[in-house]
Amino acid sequence: MGNSNNERYLESQAARESNARSYPRRLPIAILEAEGIHVKDMDGKVYYDCLAGAGTLALGHNHPVVVDAIRQMLEHKRPLHTLDLTTPLKEQFVDEVFASLPEAFAKDARIQFCGPTGGDAIEAAIKLVKTATGNRSILAFQGGYHGSTHATMSLSGTLGQKEKINALIPDVHHLPYPYAYRCPFGVGGEETHRISSKYIENLLRDPESGIVSPCGMILEVVQGEGGSIPAPIE
Ligand SMILES: Cc1ncc(COP(=O)(O)O)c(C=O)c1O
Repeated sequence: MGNSNNERYLESQAARESNARSYPRRLPIAILEAEGIHVKDMDGKVYYDCLAGAGTLALGHNHPVVVDAIRQMLEHKRPLHTLDLTTPLKEQFVDEVFASLPEAFAKDARIQFCGPTGGDAIEAAIKLVKTATGNRSILAFQGGYHGSTHATMSLSGTLGQKEKINALIPDVHHLPYPYAYRCPFGVGGEETHRISSKYIENLLRDPESGIVSPCGMILEVVQGEGGSIPAPIE
């Protein structure tokens, strides 16, 4: 057993949780409390939380507005689970999402309530484009990260997580991402953007491209795991 409280929790975690743990290997702490931008570990040390729930805790931990909304919900006997049956609160949420969209888009938009994760959203999108087009191949990008489910892993560039999983989903094709600084075509700058667009255009037009008509293309407008790389407008 380690001497610190953190170590005791980490040893227990390592003994009882699967090897699929990722962040604890790089951030070996156990967290007791969190408020705003701060988290406090089991040894009383306070950190700035730059993980921020992978960017989802935009208001920080336990923001009074969020805590109050949760309290209201519990005190007013609001249902915690209704499958996809609607509720006044869900209606209000949809109103606000639609109000935040550009008007022309909102007019014909539909909302899909997926599971809570990014991977769930991508899975739903894959099923949607496959159903809508009847096509099967998908274009993705090198350096992309889309999640850790079977299908999203297939779309990702990240090799570490997929190397040992046989037969990921078929018909996924990884294109070079238009990264001007580490240019996949060895030229760099604006030329990277031009060649990348040309490459994709050619691939879509060429009856000998080897890729049957795709159902869709998945693209991070700013690659995250791949290295904070924005895609050019082109
Ligand atoms: C661009 C991108 N897509 C999808 C995902 C997967 O999201 P989740 O881990 O919530 O399934 C992530 C997660 O880091 C992501 O960065």
